[in-house]
Amino acid sequence: MGASAPAYAKLNLSLDILGKRPDGYHDMRMVMQSISLCDDVSLHDSTVPGIRVSSNMSFLPSGSDNIAAKAAIAFFKALDKPCPDLDIHIEKHTPVCAGMAGGSSDGAAVLRLLRESRAPHMGREELEAIAAQVGSDVPFCVRGGTVLCEGRGELMTDLPPLPPCWLTVVKPDFPISTPELFAQVRTRSLRCHPDTQGMIEALQAQDLDGIAHRLYNVFEDVLPRQYREVMEIKHRLLTLGAMAASMTGSGPTVFGLFEDRDTAEEAADTMKKTYSAVFSATPAGPSV
Ligand code: C5P
Repeated sequence: MGASAPAYAKLNLSLDILGKRPDGYHDMRMVMQSISLCDDVSLHDSTVPGIRVSSNMSFLPSGSDNIAAKAAIAFFKALDKPCPDLDIHIEKHTPVCAGMAGGSSDGAAVLRLLRESRAPHMGREELEAIAAQVGSDVPFCVRGGTVLCEGRGELMTDLPPLPPCWLTVVKPDFPISTPELFAQVRTRSLRCHPDTQGMIEALQAQDLDGIAHRLYNVFEDVLPRQYREVMEIKHRLLTLGAMAASMTGSGPTVFGLFEDRDTAEEAADTMKKTYSAVFSATPAGPSV
């Protein structure tokens, strides 16, 4: 038996950090958006014992430290059933360590595929609760669409979709460690916060201008100086005609939001002269 599913990447339309929690995580308030850029995840029963993960990207972990394998293990643990022997293949298109939930979306695709084949009566809440054990962004990736994510990311409220627009996504060639960036938040106080309520109202009014003006990620505020290229990319996307531009998640990927497809694609072509990881995308809807 085999089945496959797309694993959509995400962008943060907004990202706010409300405070540190006793469990070491942070309370967040984020408007998350699925986009058309995706990996293809396929699942096959295997005759070889255990769970193996293969990918077109040879550097990804192939065993139980891959988030896709962790998702399968968590799924069968929740069902209180032994984990079957599985081959998971990930055809990767979303850049890794990018702030786009690439790994989390692969884990979420595995959960959706397993529910379909092994527990079709499992409710959305139960699947999302399993997802929360796998990683903070996995519940959103299970659900997809346009969602307000609070708590660690697992308290979700569906929002109206992002109105039609075009997204030019640029990932510079350096990683930013998520825990390190959270540590910066501890040591420095945040100067500004996104207007999350205004963002929600702009989505309700389908006001693309209002949404664009409220793109904001507090991590940009605490970005160490060595990552100033992120700000340069933002500036270039704005110069190339973006209505607004922002870093997504803990970076380093930056996206520009465009009203017009041609302008977005011309911006992508220009950015490709400097960066090898440049993508054109559109908003994607819910997955379940
Ligand atoms: O849950 P996940 O494995 O994606 O989180 C990666 C790291 O990011 C955590 O170990 C933690 O340091 C940090 N984090 C946090 N607060 C969150 C989400 C992640 O501090 N809400």
